[in-house]
Amino acid sequence: MSEYLKLHDKTFKLFIPNAEIEKAIDAIAARLNHDYRDCTDQDPAILICTLNGAVIFAAELLKRLTFPLELKACKLSSYEGTSSTGVVRTEVPLPAHIEGRRVIIVEDIVDTGTTIVNMMQQLKEHKVKDARVCTLLLKKEVYRKDVKLDYVAMEIPNRFIVGFGLDYDELGRNTSDIYVLD
Ligand code: IMP
Ligand code: MG
Repeated sequence: MSEYLKLHDKTFKLFIPNAEIEKAIDAIAARLNHDYRDCTDQDPAILICTLNGAVIFAAELLKRLTFPLELKACKLSSYEGTSSTGVVRTEVPLPAHIEGRRVIIVEDIVDTGTTIVNMMQQLKEHKVKDARVCTLLLKKEVYRKDVKLDYVAMEIPNRFIVGFGLDYDELGRNTSDIYVLD
């Protein structure tokens, strides 16, 4: 692993090595496996991967989950460059026919919470039976919303990070480690 990563005009420094990320994912997967152990082939959970940032996290999580589940995806976006715009755009809508189902939203990172609040609202309109949030990262100092974050793998300070699926203007997703803006 390299200590520094250059993307566009900015330099990022190694922040969370892959081994630490994997350990955190092991722990969150164990909790999910316990909480969703009563899912059946007739009533599987629905995992919604939020594109594009959560793809690596969702893949790593999936490999560890042992209960029946269906994988879906959606894409909402609120970020431009290194900060939230506060406005959420739906680029790929939530999956159809999820009424009465148990849904797990898989997010890369919760920052202001604007995105997750919007998604929870949409899930409510879809009349799902239960919706929980599973996020790899949480910027705890920034998050002030009421939506309960059921599964948080790691908490980080209010810094801009990239890697392991997360990007800076679409670059930097393809690293195994997480880097922070230097
Ligand atoms: P929120 O709506 O402010 O909670 O922002 C959530 C979304 O913004 C995440 O799903 C990411 O796509 C993006 N985001 C937030 N913080 C970061 C960061 O530090 N690096 C890269 N993307 C981020
Ligand atoms: Mg995202």
